[in-house]
Amino acid sequence: MPSDRTLSIGDLASRTGLSVSAIRFYESRGLVRAIRTGGNQRRFLRSDIRRLSFALIAQQLGLTLGQIEAELATLPEGRAPTRADWQRISERIGGVLDQKIAMLERMRKKLDGCIGCGCLSLETCALYNPEDRAGRAGPGPRFVIGDEGP
Ligand code: FES
Repeated sequence: MPSDRTLSIGDLASRTGLSVSAIRFYESRGLVRAIRTGGNQRRFLRSDIRRLSFALIAQQLGLTLGQIEAELATLPEGRAPTRADWQRISERIGGVLDQKIAMLERMRKKLDGCIGCGCLSLETCALYNPEDRAGRAGPGPRFVIGDEGP
């Protein structure tokens, strides 16, 4: 891949692993903006690779497109964001990440036992979730979501 300061949408697609149509979608939502070169070519800043990579990771972490747009909207226009710019974002979404990590840890610990989902299909369910007591707190696998369980 060329190491130019600007890239074509094709280069951006091959480096990020996103399809050209996905990049156009993100562009239509303002996550990245194409610039026109002197030769009237549409190009993207190389730093847009990081914006798109952030969007990709954030979506896998469960952030909504609205949350991602709001975060990327805090970045400066027309120049590559600095480490400090990204640090501000990471501080803001740090709480979301911590929650995700805690849930993943609970899941790893509990997945072979009763997760409080209401199925009552494991021997341990009778012990930890008699008559689906966990379901009184709400829908979903309560012991993975965070309710007290085994
Ligand atoms: S695993 Fe579903 S209620 Fe126990």
